Amino acid sequence: MTGTDDAAGGDGGSADGDALAADAEAFRRYLRAKRSVDDRALDRRLLGILRERLADRAARDGRLRVFEVGTGVGTMVARLIDWEVLPPGETRYVAVDRDPDALAGLGPFLREWADDRKAPASVTEAAGGSEAAGESEAAGESEAAGGSEAAGESEAAGGSEAAGGSERAGGSEADALVVETDARTVRVEPVAADGVAYAAEHAGESDALIGMALLDVLGLDRLDQLLDALAPDGTYYFPITFDGGTRFRPAHPDDRAIERLYHRHMDEKPGGNSRAGGAALARLREADGSTLLGVAGSDWIARPADGEAGYPGDEAFFLRHILDTVEAAVGEVIAGGGETRALSAADLDAWLEIRRRQVDSGELVYLTHQLDLIGRVDDA
Ligand SMILES: C[S@@+](CC[C@H](N)C(=O)[O-])C[C@H]1O[C@@H](n2cnc3c(N)ncnc32)[C@H](O)[C@@H]1O
Repeated sequence: MTGTDDAAGGDGGSADGDALAADAEAFRRYLRAKRSVDDRALDRRLLGILRERLADRAARDGRLRVFEVGTGVGTMVARLIDWEVLPPGETRYVAVDRDPDALAGLGPFLREWADDRKAPASVTEAAGGSEAAGESEAAGESEAAGGSEAAGESEAAGGSEAAGGSERAGGSEADALVVETDARTVRVEPVAADGVAYAAEHAGESDALIGMALLDVLGLDRLDQLLDALAPDGTYYFPITFDGGTRFRPAHPDDRAIERLYHRHMDEKPGGNSRAGGAALARLREADGSTLLGVAGSDWIARPADGEAGYPGDEAFFLRHILDTVEAAVGEVIAGGGETRALSAADLDAWLEIRRRQVDSGELVYLTHQLDLIGRVDDA
């Protein structure tokens, strides 16, 4: 499963403030830790199509507007810069997530990424933000609204309207960040809001729509509304879309029962779909007004690094977080009753103990099945 946002992302609950803060911190660290797993998994051919289409668009229009839904801490924007998928020049990148706690990790993540980067990069708050905020407040809009004008964007490009729009969508904005490398300037505008509501209020304003590890939690019946965000001939890209396979190795007799209950828990959540990849593929192939350009597998494989005892980067944490999510989800199904014949709470505990020990000893291998999907909305 990729959409572990509800289990650990701070959607609320009865835990006290400290526990919620710890959950939010753990979720941000999980999103950072999964970056290297995603890096290995993402299909390069589809990324090539995205790169080409963004370059053509920027060359044609002299500007590029990207809208990412479910941005989390922002690993995708860093990747698109590192892998030169965003074209040289200026890009406006609206980063929407319904979870403000996840989005709070965007600035810290990007700053750390810039510091660690071999080639120089800087991350600064948008220049003149407060001055421009004054202008937009006079127009009844929020601080972040004016930031776009400070970056020289026109209102027609959706610049200052963005903030007012997100407020109508029930969201809020933090200060924009400017990420600068030798060839690229990317203005990242975080917006805490529901992506579909934001898309409705900014219909037709984006050249590209990105949603990574999103469609299994978004609700596929909302996909068409999300695509409304795109301008004619705009590109959608939905990588790491979970598609119904969760495997752990070495094999354990309870694996099948655990997988079944885990996926059932996903399916029972509002908007959840444990087979989102295949379902999105069917939907996008047949959609009126858009054309699917490519689909490819992007399975996760987390295992100890070759010739090393441990996992690469922070992937041991990634695995522990996945096991915590399985514990919460499957535990909830068992507690709900009816499944104790297939798997008891004691079986689950025993399974988790073995799996956690296998992470500690660098034995556990984790595999999931996912799809990347790319396409375009048709010309008007
Ligand atoms: C599994 S996380 C993936 C985050 C990021 N795309 C990544 O791969 O690192 C899914 C994210 O989507 C966000 N999300 C889910 N539904 C959303 C919606 N309707 N609007 C905006 N964000 C949403 C969640 O808050 C969560 O941060």
